[in-house]
Amino acid sequence: PDKVMHKLVSLAKRRGFIFPSSEIYEGLSSCFDYGPLGSEMKRNIKELWWNSMTRRHQNIVGLDASIMMNPRVWEASGHVASFNDPMIDDKTTKRRYRADHLIENHIEKLRRDGKEEELLRVQSAYEAVAGAEDSNRALYDIIIAEGIKAQDTGSGDWTEVRQFNLMFQCNMGAVADKSNIVYLRPETAQGIFVNFHNVRESSRMKVPFGIAQIGKAFRNEIVKGNFIFRMVEFEQMEMQYFVKPGTQAEAFEAWREERFAWYTSALGLRKEKLHWYKHDKLAHYADLAYDIKFEFPFGIEEIEGIHSRTDFDLKQHQEYSGKNMEYIDQLTNERYLPYVVETSAGCDRLFLALLADAYTEDTVDGDERVVLKLSPKVAPIKAAVLPLMKKCGMGEMASLLREELSAAHLVQYDDAGSIGKRYRRQDEIGTPFCITVDHQSLEENSVTVRYRDTATQERIEISRVREFLASKLIT
Ligand code: GAP
Repeated sequence: PDKVMHKLVSLAKRRGFIFPSSEIYEGLSSCFDYGPLGSEMKRNIKELWWNSMTRRHQNIVGLDASIMMNPRVWEASGHVASFNDPMIDDKTTKRRYRADHLIENHIEKLRRDGKEEELLRVQSAYEAVAGAEDSNRALYDIIIAEGIKAQDTGSGDWTEVRQFNLMFQCNMGAVADKSNIVYLRPETAQGIFVNFHNVRESSRMKVPFGIAQIGKAFRNEIVKGNFIFRMVEFEQMEMQYFVKPGTQAEAFEAWREERFAWYTSALGLRKEKLHWYKHDKLAHYADLAYDIKFEFPFGIEEIEGIHSRTDFDLKQHQEYSGKNMEYIDQLTNERYLPYVVETSAGCDRLFLALLADAYTEDTVDGDERVVLKLSPKVAPIKAAVLPLMKKCGMGEMASLLREELSAAHLVQYDDAGSIGKRYRRQDEIGTPFCITVDHQSLEENSVTVRYRDTATQERIEISRVREFLASKLIT
């Protein structure tokens, strides 16, 4: 798995998908930049999501709320009080760990080693943490009683366990004191909840309806790693669907189905790599939650959460703002706080899933190659136009064709190196089609189209290329 990740990271950098952030200064932990190809691919992902949510659903509209909001929002949402991880520091190595993860890893190890008695003891102590009066103390006691050490260093000279809030704070204005703290949003969802009435009124929406948003979120994650899987600054694609209380279970099921299908039908991820996971431990706002997980090289991990958030958020905002957040049904005159079903996907995680799923090493025409088998809709460059040679008017013809196609798609012209080399270059970045202009093209206005995955070629009329590409990119 490490080898695969290593190859992905190196390809991503070499070909301009993803660079470490501020690399000339040795980077910044868990921060990354999307390069020329990465930014194109990320745009494609976001556009596919946006269109599948807003364009395909008459009753879902978009929003682009600000990252910084009145800090009262985060008191109401529960993030100030509850968006915490229990952390413990090792006094010797100065490393910080999640206390619950230390225990979970320990339980896993006991299970592997078949130590039944110890396993039962630790498990029941761990289950009791949730109900403990002082959960920090309960976690600490287990770690000490079981002699749990850090897996990476083998050290275990522990401090107390304390709650560490994941929200980034900054100060707005000139004075740096408590009175002007603002947070960087840890989820985009709250921008939607506080705009519930603005959106509903301005767009004349009737329950059930949804609000969709794509934007950055920030979390001061202590446990980082796995490339762009867990970052401190990342992008979410969220949709909040407001329904009448009592109908949330039905909406939840419908969204669960639709969101799962999207990954295979719209993005071309392999179905066998996708998994469902039902949450036992719920976030502070949810009464039911499922994750869609993907089989990454380093394990099966979450890419999207589907959450039944009840009326928790609207109710909290009603209480904290003093504004009525109720919906009035015009037909029946009923008033109620709508329930919310949320679909919350991580754009960067999905990007990594797509790269990992697409990465293939195979042999064509006796040559070994690396190929990204990305869906044409996701691929950063849709086609490459390659003159067999630059002279005899082939270069010109290819340039003209590129220009024509580029009105609708990102198409690249390349005349450098042998045709075989140019094909490989495009394979490695996932370009689904290579269009070659050769001698025959000059005589009969036709080109060859080479398919990336099979390396097979067919000849088509030059006047049909535009239509050919469009037909492959219908969403
Ligand atoms: N509004 C609900 C919410 O934020 P979440 O499960 O905490 O739910 C939703 O996050 C999605 O955001 C995750 O499924 C994941 O794809 C993405 N995500 C969360 N934390 C992330 C991080 N540190 N780095 C990258 N993506 C992250």
